[in-house]
Amino acid sequence: MTTLHESLTLKPGMPLRGAIGVPGDKSISHRSILLGALADGATEVRGWLAAGDTEATLAAVQQLGIQIDRHDTHTLTVHGGQLQPAEAPLDFVNAGTGIRLAAGIMAGQPFASVLDGSYQLRRRPMKRITEPLQSMGADITSDEGKCPLTIHPAQLKGIEHNLKIASAQVKSAILLAGLFADGETVVVQPGPARDHTERMLASMGAHLTIDGNTVILKPGATLQPMNLTVPGDFSSAAFLIVAGLVVPGSDLTIQGVNLNDTRTGLVDALLQMNADLDVTETGLEAGEPIGDIRVRYSDLHGTTIGGDMVVRMIDEFPIFMIAALAASGETIVRDAKELRVKETDRIAVMAQELRKLGASIEEREDGFRIVGPQRLMGSVVDGHDDHRIAMSMAVAGLIADEMTVVTDAKCANDSFPGFAETLMQLGGGLLPEGQG
Ligand code: S3P
Repeated sequence: MTTLHESLTLKPGMPLRGAIGVPGDKSISHRSILLGALADGATEVRGWLAAGDTEATLAAVQQLGIQIDRHDTHTLTVHGGQLQPAEAPLDFVNAGTGIRLAAGIMAGQPFASVLDGSYQLRRRPMKRITEPLQSMGADITSDEGKCPLTIHPAQLKGIEHNLKIASAQVKSAILLAGLFADGETVVVQPGPARDHTERMLASMGAHLTIDGNTVILKPGATLQPMNLTVPGDFSSAAFLIVAGLVVPGSDLTIQGVNLNDTRTGLVDALLQMNADLDVTETGLEAGEPIGDIRVRYSDLHGTTIGGDMVVRMIDEFPIFMIAALAASGETIVRDAKELRVKETDRIAVMAQELRKLGASIEEREDGFRIVGPQRLMGSVVDGHDDHRIAMSMAVAGLIADEMTVVTDAKCANDSFPGFAETLMQLGGGLLPEGQG
């Protein structure tokens, strides 16, 4: 059982050293449950991420009559088969991936369902999935483009859809609906959004072809169950990578991390900034390349990020802001408007919280400009019930003068249970609760 930390107290000047793993990949863990439920038989999952978001998806799938055996926290069996109507609305809590992928599946079921979530999820845009699903014939209504989503049975037909945004969640929702549609479904993406759904569907025997940025799915295959070990989440490793780069004296290795190229844009961005990073591929896990990342404290300089790189590091911009603050010169991020519709408006919220530490951030509609290096002063900051904000602010606290307290930090558990313990294990400046 992981401890939930109400707040995190950080002090500067403590290098991070040693070798450590990170919890399982969140995107793959969601998919192992959702796709495992559709397989003809028992899917075995090891290294599953037991975190707030993924537990919500697991509970929803159980509500749909799918038996899931928990052997221990991270090892489970999903007994795939026919989904059954749920007696109550499915509650995806804060999980955008959970609700959007599930909407694609539920659109193709012969019974009605209601998909809902927390106050935070109810603020996030759902038209991006309801509109393409409706054009496939889905009977789906939303609350003015937000959840709850009410889905009634309808016969779906395959479509050719050009994604307006490079979103893996939208792509996946359409492909999953395509499993239940008449005819072929084609999704054309404007950029390289993460491809875990495609890799998993292909491994299960789905009729799936990929041609550049175009994905083609033909229905009709019986999906075979999987036997997989979930690799470590690169997006969790990202906090440790940046912490190691900005805290003087650090030298750490993060082991067993998913190195899927659609996810590792942050490594490329940091290498452009003169980061001392060694990435060593060690093998394949769940059809994904995995490996170790060695990080040493570095003299970073600014860079400019835009275009496809943004998609490849979309979840990493909150922590990237800390690297930009430590780097000398100008860092500019553009084409990243999507950050405004994540768990929070991540441009506005990071700028607001970093200003409490004395930072100067130029907010832009589609990104930001930071000129560094900037000296931060410890203060009390808020995690805004957004895991990536809370953990990024904790890393900022490792380089701020004096103490920093991150309140509302329990949300770190949505993707990185054990974040605080991991920092402590590496010797980073995190004080045990109550010792601020
Ligand atoms: C995810 C896709 C991304 C990402 C999210 C997880 C996924 O969202 O931000 O954290 O697992 O498919 P979008 O597809 O909306 O960009």
